[in-house]
Amino acid sequence: MKALVTGANRGLGLGICTAMRDKGYDVFAACRKSSPELGALGVRLVEGVDVGNPEAIAAIRNALGKDVLDVVVCNAAINISYAYRTIEELKLEDVEDEYRVNTVGMVRTVQAVLPNLHEGSKVILLTTSGGTLGRNPLRGGSYGYRMSKGGINTFGFLLASELRPRGIAVRMISPGPVDTDMTRVINASGIVKTAIVHGHVPDPVTAGNVVLRQIDELDMESTGSWIDQTGKLWA
Ligand SMILES: NC(=O)c1ccc[n+]([C@@H]2O[C@H](COP(=O)([O-])OP(=O)(O)OC[C@H]3O[C@@H](n4cnc5c(N)ncnc54)[C@H](OP(=O)(O)O)[C@@H]3O)[C@@H](O)[C@H]2O)c1
Repeated sequence: MKALVTGANRGLGLGICTAMRDKGYDVFAACRKSSPELGALGVRLVEGVDVGNPEAIAAIRNALGKDVLDVVVCNAAINISYAYRTIEELKLEDVEDEYRVNTVGMVRTVQAVLPNLHEGSKVILLTTSGGTLGRNPLRGGSYGYRMSKGGINTFGFLLASELRPRGIAVRMISPGPVDTDMTRVINASGIVKTAIVHGHVPDPVTAGNVVLRQIDELDMESTGSWIDQTGKLWA
């Protein structure tokens, strides 16, 4: 199985790459810049992939060449708007950055790999329950991050419809709280207390294995589904 993962150098992306490597996947690890941990994995490194930049398409295509991809995992994302407690404080430049990376960046990644997908390939979009309407916690805040993930949920539903006739499955995966830089930085700010402070938050490799199981289970019957870390489907 051949896979491409964005944001592969740290956090959940690194955990997913590790889980895939352990299961014998041939992994294209796309990132802006590699890390010692990623370098040690022995996967194929695709550096210089800033998903917020149009040049990411050429960088991904050059690395893939004519290789056929079975799985693409759109994982790279930022959360900067957690820092604003109110709508009055919210800086719209940060919201624009979150859309550029989290929403447009995932659409761009999909555009880049489409020529390398085939019947049976799978497109995975990392999302969050905070970006849904029905499952959105009552707490406000993190406007740009959660709105950008709401956009990705809509993209996933639309893409699943369009790719169904081509036999390509799409799934949105909400990994739940994971012990990564994203959660640690937010906790350290004291502005928002994420689940990490209560303990029982999986490390990135444990969470990566859950994500990989949810990728393996995906088929054309379940295309367009949104799934959380407990396996609960919502579509
Ligand atoms: N951690 C959680 O609790 C949690 C919960 C729900 C959903 N998620 C989702 O899971 C995914 C991974 O999150 P994480 O916790 O691993 O975050 P993280 O620790 O902050 O890591 C983010 C990754 O995305 C990369 N990235 C950021 N901006 C990028 C850009 N413009 N181009 C390319 N790569 C970029 C980072 O690379 P650099 O080193 O170059 O910055 C890093 O590899 C995200 O989609 C996130 O929304 C996470």
